[in-house]
Amino acid sequence: MKRILVTGALGQIGSELILKLRNIYGAHNVIATDIRQNDSEAAQSGPFEVLDVTDFKQMMKIATKYQVDTIVHLAAILSASAEAMPVFAWNLNMGGLLNALETARELKLQFFTPSSIGAFGPSTPKDNTPQDTIMRPTTMYGVNKVAGELLADYYFYKYGVDTRGLRFPGLISHVTEPGGGTTDYAVDIYYKAVQEKKYTSYIAKGTFMDMMYMPDALNAIIDLMEADSSRLVHRNSFNVTAMSFDPEGIAASIRMQIPDFKLDYDVDPCRQQIAESWPNSLDASAAMQEWGFHYEFDLDKMTEDMISKLRQKLNLEIPKP
Ligand code: NAD
Ligand code: SER
Repeated sequence: MKRILVTGALGQIGSELILKLRNIYGAHNVIATDIRQNDSEAAQSGPFEVLDVTDFKQMMKIATKYQVDTIVHLAAILSASAEAMPVFAWNLNMGGLLNALETARELKLQFFTPSSIGAFGPSTPKDNTPQDTIMRPTTMYGVNKVAGELLADYYFYKYGVDTRGLRFPGLISHVTEPGGGTTDYAVDIYYKAVQEKKYTSYIAKGTFMDMMYMPDALNAIIDLMEADSSRLVHRNSFNVTAMSFDPEGIAASIRMQIPDFKLDYDVDPCRQQIAESWPNSLDASAAMQEWGFHYEFDLDKMTEDMISKLRQKLNLEIPKP
């Protein structure tokens, strides 16, 4: 990667990935694009273009203008929103992906896009879910992700496009709030913990899902993209994870910092059903073997960092011991 175009760059992942990429590869070598513009650091700290990923001509025009060698395709609609708007989700998630792959093929670019734990379904083995296993998702988002993984493989086999991808678990971060996902509760809970010392979870007790802290997710993208191509057996996409917990587990971790934190439940049937169709925990050994995947943050280390960063961000007083 030398000159990188990022789509959906103002979202939860992009807003932090842009800054990290600019730090490593140089600000002018990272072109942030999104369907909207704002005054965030990601939009202001280097080249930015408005780009709707369903507009192939505009994508080609911007990629050509900046002579990029890599496309990181992030623009998509997440699981809960996709379930509410399935046709819109199909058109954006598949149409945008096809345009990004076609741009990569025509301009001979390296290509990255994230898949998700949402690519798995109820018939997938739930614990220590293997890299290669049954994938029959029951959500529109999951159907998009499985089809996307296969399409990216197809572009590699058919056209030699250097496609790579990760099956991300729920990502937890303190910079940009997530939107429209099933795992969003694991971010919301920290905001409410520092502000109100209580949280009402829409995910039920005993529902385990994989999660990862954003700094580890960003490192994983860069490590995979910089990995020696000849070592990659699974290109699209690698299981990656750093932790697995249910609402009680994250609450217990928060209580180590905020002892009087309270958790109760008001379960949302739609997001609960999605969560129950996903694995409890992933096996990330293929990623470890093929390109050295590793992570730094386990649940308690992440909790400590999230709480401290959110208190700073929200100008909250740090309680005296
Ligand atoms: P996000 O919803 O936070 O951001 C998506 C961005 O895409 C937004 O800034 C939005 O404005 C933009 N966008 C929407 N429609 C667009 C269009 N037509 N053209 C251009 N931009 C458009 O999403 P995210 O959490 O940053 O996720 C990025 C990718 O990572 C997605 O493919 C998602 O499925 C995947 N992923 C995310 C997570 C997670 O927990 N965040 C986990 C697994 C996989
Ligand atoms: N965090 C994402 C979601 O819940 C997982 O892909 O949709």
